[in-house]
Amino acid sequence: MASTLITGIAELTTWDDERPSITDAALVVEGRIVAWVGSAVEAPSVDSVDAVVHVAGRAVVPGFVDSHSHLVFAGDRAAEFEARMSGTPYAAGGIRTTVAATRAATDEQLTAHVGRLVSEMQRQGTTTVEIKSGYGLSVRDEARSLAVARQFTDETTFLGAHVVPAGPDGGAGDPTAYVDLVTGPMLDAAAPHARWIDVFCESGAFDADQARTILAAGARHGLRGRLHANQLGPGPGVRLAAELGLVAVDHCTYLDDADVDALADSGTVATLLPGVEFSTRQPYPDARRLLDAGVSVALASDCNPGSCFTSSIPFCLALAVREMGMTPAEALWAATAGGAAALDRTDVGRLTPGAAADLVVLDAPDHRHLAYRPGVPLVTAVWRAGRPV
Ligand code: NIG
Ligand code: FE
Repeated sequence: MASTLITGIAELTTWDDERPSITDAALVVEGRIVAWVGSAVEAPSVDSVDAVVHVAGRAVVPGFVDSHSHLVFAGDRAAEFEARMSGTPYAAGGIRTTVAATRAATDEQLTAHVGRLVSEMQRQGTTTVEIKSGYGLSVRDEARSLAVARQFTDETTFLGAHVVPAGPDGGAGDPTAYVDLVTGPMLDAAAPHARWIDVFCESGAFDADQARTILAAGARHGLRGRLHANQLGPGPGVRLAAELGLVAVDHCTYLDDADVDALADSGTVATLLPGVEFSTRQPYPDARRLLDAGVSVALASDCNPGSCFTSSIPFCLALAVREMGMTPAEALWAATAGGAAALDRTDVGRLTPGAAADLVVLDAPDHRHLAYRPGVPLVTAVWRAGRPV
């Protein structure tokens, strides 16, 4: 198995319990995984490896784990964004605009579009991405959205319960009939391509009883649950996620004390998506309050054409530090190990022996520069599964 020694690392973030960060560090990659990490002076000799890479005083951090994105869509909603910036509020109903465009696109167009966005993410340091369906909202279009997503990641999520689509006459769809479709034929067609099932639990989308029904149906097909909740206002979604012991609940913008306590007790990861608040002019979620209560926090992009069209984890990290009370180290943990926790993964999001050799070389001496230098392309090299990409 080919081995590479990466040395000259000014600061290596490992998230190892004993040594979460090492200065003047080195790392050995063997095949697809990390074989060794430590101080450069203790590193294996250059003769014992197949190749040596000098990063000349740069920082190395784990590849970002973006645990929440909606990349399978066609068209854009720049006009909606423009109107929002001059005062029109964000509304979930905009999703239907993207549904029409997505249904009209061919499989090849959708695949090419997802491929472009995944490589855009990769160039910015993302090495693991979760991708949801949710702009098809018919049996055929949800199944093919997931089949497209599966070409790029194993972390695929069936989000047929994004909104109730318009009825055949173009008028409001029937929610009861739609939940029957989602939990019946749509789930049958989607499940082979998905690992997770998600519901947008919010007023204007699906209520807690509907979410419970949909997640239970998903579980019968072997899909694990996650939720979009408390994004646009207070609601029951976060408490439902905690009650069901879901791995993660995403958005968590409007929380009361009982929501925070429920998350702390259940261990459900709260995935915060600050690009959404930036792009919708909503208040940011209070990460500090969650962290102080002992909740695990992840950061993700939520890349989608409506509420947040950024693919940049460094941008989200800078927002989290500037606006949400996170330290640079907490934000980096949330976007790496936290994202992994939100996907119930321990093989990514850290750089410890045995983990995937997914890493980012920053053109900076330490991780703080990710937030300190917002908007600057600091990601100079990305390695995925032991190879530069
Ligand atoms: O995560 N909240 C629901 N879904 C997306 C937005 C979808 C859209 O506006 O197209 C979100 O924000
Ligand atoms: Fe989302």
